[in-house]
Amino acid sequence: GDIADPAMAERAVAGCDVVLHQAAIPSVPRSIEDPIGTHRANVDGTVSLLTAAKSAGVKRVVFAGSSSVYGNAAVLPKREDMRPHPLTPYALQKLISEQYCQLFTSLYGLETVTTRYFNVFGPRQQPGSPYSGVISLFIDAFSKGQTPTIYGDGKQTRDFTYVADVVSGVLRAAEAPGVSGEVINVAVGGRISLLELVRTLQVIFKAPLEPAFRPERAGDVRDSQADIAKARRLLGYEPQVTFEEGLRKTVEWYRAAR
Ligand code: UD1
Repeated sequence: GDIADPAMAERAVAGCDVVLHQAAIPSVPRSIEDPIGTHRANVDGTVSLLTAAKSAGVKRVVFAGSSSVYGNAAVLPKREDMRPHPLTPYALQKLISEQYCQLFTSLYGLETVTTRYFNVFGPRQQPGSPYSGVISLFIDAFSKGQTPTIYGDGKQTRDFTYVADVVSGVLRAAEAPGVSGEVINVAVGGRISLLELVRTLQVIFKAPLEPAFRPERAGDVRDSQADIAKARRLLGYEPQVTFEEGLRKTVEWYRAAR
């Protein structure tokens, strides 16, 4: 269903104590090509869902926010109290949505928590579109013996977070007391470059595939690394899966799925 359709949103939340709001068009480049369509899904969809949750008496909404709201913040790691600097429609849409969550908390008393995700990866992430996450695209390329494409010099970094760690952060955000209205980074606190990603895949696949380099993407963030002190303090959150371990588990899943 389409959560931007109010009737659909009402059906989706009926009878729920907690709503984990993950619905979005989660692609930075797609938002640059289609600001109207992605705004409708990402912002109108959130307002529609929050309205339905309020009417249905839902206890708490946990919203999937994005590290993209930080943009190219001068300081690393990125902390929740830094001034956001969205560089793309997607980043702005996620920022507006988390502010809508806070507004529904202050204005209507609906409990909300935003968990800001940082480049989530893991099993079942689909490589089927040019908008897919980079890890799914690169694993797909390596498993087919094809050249992975790097946009830019490959030295950009991301705080790649294994999906099980994100799930643990979200479930904690759903239950923790005293966190309504908060925005909380959920990540590892590390920083891996695309060149390191390719090197690790070369080892896992025992294949010396070298990447092809293309021009940098518009609106691409250079470095992304989370400060996770707030998640530790408010949620008792601690990431469990290292980057390489998560990558190996993801590759195993792709191999089995193929
Ligand atoms: C990703 C998420 C987004 C999330 C954001 C938080 C996806 C699809 N997007 O955006 O939802 O909110 O993190 O920061 O998971 N790249 C290549 N080659 C490729 C594909 C990508 O070099 O074939 C590069 C990109 O230019 C970028 C990096 O890899 O520098 C990561 O790209 P991508 O996985 O699309 O994620 P983000 O744009 O960081």
